[in-house]
Amino acid sequence: MSGTSNTLLIKHAAEIVTNTGETAKQGADMNRLLRIADGALLIKDGRIEWIGETAALPAVDHRDLEILDAAGCSVIPGFVDSHTHFVFGGYRPEEFFWRLAGTPYLEILERGGGILNTVQQTRAAEYAELVQNAAKRLDAMLSMGVTTVEGKSGYGLDLATELRQLHVMGTLDQEHAMDVVPTFMGAHAVPPEFSGRTDDYVDYMIKTVLPAVANQKIAEFCDVFCEKGIFSLQQTRKILQAAQALGLRPKLHADEIVGFGGAELAAELGAVSADHLLQASDRGISAMAAHSVVATVLPLTAFCLREEYARARIMIDSGAAVALATDYNPGSCFSHSIPMLIALATIQMKLSPAEILTALTLNGAAAVRRADRTGTLECGKQADIVILKYPSHLFLSYHAGMDIVRTVIKKGRVVVD
Ligand code: NIG
Ligand code: FE
Repeated sequence: MSGTSNTLLIKHAAEIVTNTGETAKQGADMNRLLRIADGALLIKDGRIEWIGETAALPAVDHRDLEILDAAGCSVIPGFVDSHTHFVFGGYRPEEFFWRLAGTPYLEILERGGGILNTVQQTRAAEYAELVQNAAKRLDAMLSMGVTTVEGKSGYGLDLATELRQLHVMGTLDQEHAMDVVPTFMGAHAVPPEFSGRTDDYVDYMIKTVLPAVANQKIAEFCDVFCEKGIFSLQQTRKILQAAQALGLRPKLHADEIVGFGGAELAAELGAVSADHLLQASDRGISAMAAHSVVATVLPLTAFCLREEYARARIMIDSGAAVALATDYNPGSCFSHSIPMLIALATIQMKLSPAEILTALTLNGAAAVRRADRTGTLECGKQADIVILKYPSHLFLSYHAGMDIVRTVIKKGRVVVD
């Protein structure tokens, strides 16, 4: 780790490639990137002060200036992983193989495994242990170019553990280079003590847990696993409206395994994003586009569960804003591999390199309401930057499944070199 100087100059980049603006790019606009050949970036006090061609650089004060030569390298914004469950106790390797042998994901959950297995292990984990393990996971994500990450609670399903998970995220946001965006997801599953009493659990969430989360100001979003046999449309609506009334913004795990109107509900509620969407209907997709709900697709999960991929191509062609995220968690998707995510988006979802870059930067930032400060390389924004080992961002897809990150800069500081 280096980066003690408060002024950093990146120059002679083969290209700087970025979106512009503070709102998600929708539809065809996802292909509109700004590209500067032989580019330079001047960073001061953690923010981008100047961006343009190296030849046009203004005179800079060379005292206290760190210079980074990016010849032969493409420079892009740091990635935003807008959907993860990275704070958890224990692991579930055996379930991975049960699923491969044919046991459905939801059946393992019905038997008390799946999410409930991790709930048991998370409830038993010490605070310090959760922080330590989650910090190592953030290190690994940062090394792949992720500079902002969203994390969800939902492995507590009781007041104390839900709050603990969110506090872990708050601690890491302070102590780790990564920006951590906390989401409350008490409605991730129904815990054993409420088994068969989902409505009572929903009431407990609304009357006891949500108000405590809102009071402590430890979450910005509220997410619900809206799925057949988990939380119905009505239960999801009830929780998310209660959350909205307390100032938390809604997100949904929608239409993942059985399509039953999750995307439409996201549009109705004005959700910030709806995620998964493998079974989203045409009507749901159009409704999301019309209401500017970011459609977050998670191809690593589809890959690990051997499901069909979400129809990201159709979503973009219908004018929706698509984000790509990992869904990193110990069950359905124990991977936060950005290179593999890009490979799947390119080859299986048929997205263009520009669409993929947009989905992983500006649209990811919009999915966590951070597009005013990150997700693009523009004057005034945080200097959250990735330098690639190759001269073009096309290599992200072309060098299939390979990590081509050379340097990561977070708020103007070199954090991976
Ligand atoms: O997004 N679908 C529900 N929640 C997570 C999985 C959590 C787990 O299996 O532990 C998901 O895939
Ligand atoms: Fe998820």
